[in-house]
Amino acid sequence: MSYYTVLGLTKEPFSTSPDPTFFFRSDAHAQALARLEIAIRLRRGLCLILGDVGIGKTTLARALLSNFPQEEGFTFHMIMDPSFESEYQFLVHLSRLFGVRAAYKSTLDCREAIEHHLFQSAVMEGRTLVLIIDEGQKLSMDMLEHLRVLLNYETNEFKLLQVVIFAQMEFMERVMRIKNFFDRVALKYILNPLDEAQTRQMIQFRLQSAGLTQGEDLFSLDAIQTIYRLSQGYPRKIALLCHNALETLVMYDRRIIDGPMIEELLRDESRWIQPVTSS
Ligand SMILES: Nc1ncnc2c1ncn2[C@@H]1O[C@H](COP(=O)(O)OP(=O)(O)OP(=O)(O)O)[C@@H](O)[C@H]1O
Ligand SMILES: [Mg+2]
Repeated sequence: MSYYTVLGLTKEPFSTSPDPTFFFRSDAHAQALARLEIAIRLRRGLCLILGDVGIGKTTLARALLSNFPQEEGFTFHMIMDPSFESEYQFLVHLSRLFGVRAAYKSTLDCREAIEHHLFQSAVMEGRTLVLIIDEGQKLSMDMLEHLRVLLNYETNEFKLLQVVIFAQMEFMERVMRIKNFFDRVALKYILNPLDEAQTRQMIQFRLQSAGLTQGEDLFSLDAIQTIYRLSQGYPRKIALLCHNALETLVMYDRRIIDGPMIEELLRDESRWIQPVTSS
């Protein structure tokens, strides 16, 4: 029997995979999704969503995919990790993703085939093609240059390809140095950590999504305050602390998690961090 069934839950509430069913929509998330939807509908080209490690970029990317209204005329593609060995491999991957069937001898051939597909799809068939790239900080300069050229491809009214890049903050500095790329960013959005109230709401939302009865609490108020203080509102850290806390709750047959339990968990965890020793 899993630990969560003992608590009367039907699913694991604090798994750290970016599952859209556990997506807590704070005002900031709702705003980011609404602005992305508008930019995509207006076919404005390039959107950039930035945030620190574990802030929820991949989760938001999945939420964009699963929440975008299911309408005819929109085609979404996603690259989870653009660590390609060469620009050629990147373009071949893109062309396969778009369903382009052609034999190419060079990167230029490949890019032309993609451009032809974009024209066919966006202009002739009136479709909106959206490419979502996660882990955008792994895009090389060559890949960014190809994206820039593809983003340049436009009619008088709209861009033929919509690109949404989710990346760590460091990506911003790199992109700012490529002026003709940075100029093309139609939407920039930085994901910030949750505040204390949102931390509480996220914990409660995830527990209820996993089957907790409304009105029931597994975390005391001081537990939530401690989680907020220790996680600084970073969702991955919140989820990890909550997961470990629930396991402890079941292991010691307790009823509710309090602040000292969370502190103890962190003390246990910090034992794994080796102190740096000088040789
Ligand atoms: N809006 C949210 N609602 C509920 N849980 C969330 C939310 N955002 C993030 N999380 C939780 O935090 C974890 C980390 O989020 P995610 O993997 O999306 O972060 P990330 O910014 O992509 O991290 P990295 O920089 O390492 O790629 C997720 O697995 C999920 O459990
Ligand atoms: Mg991620």
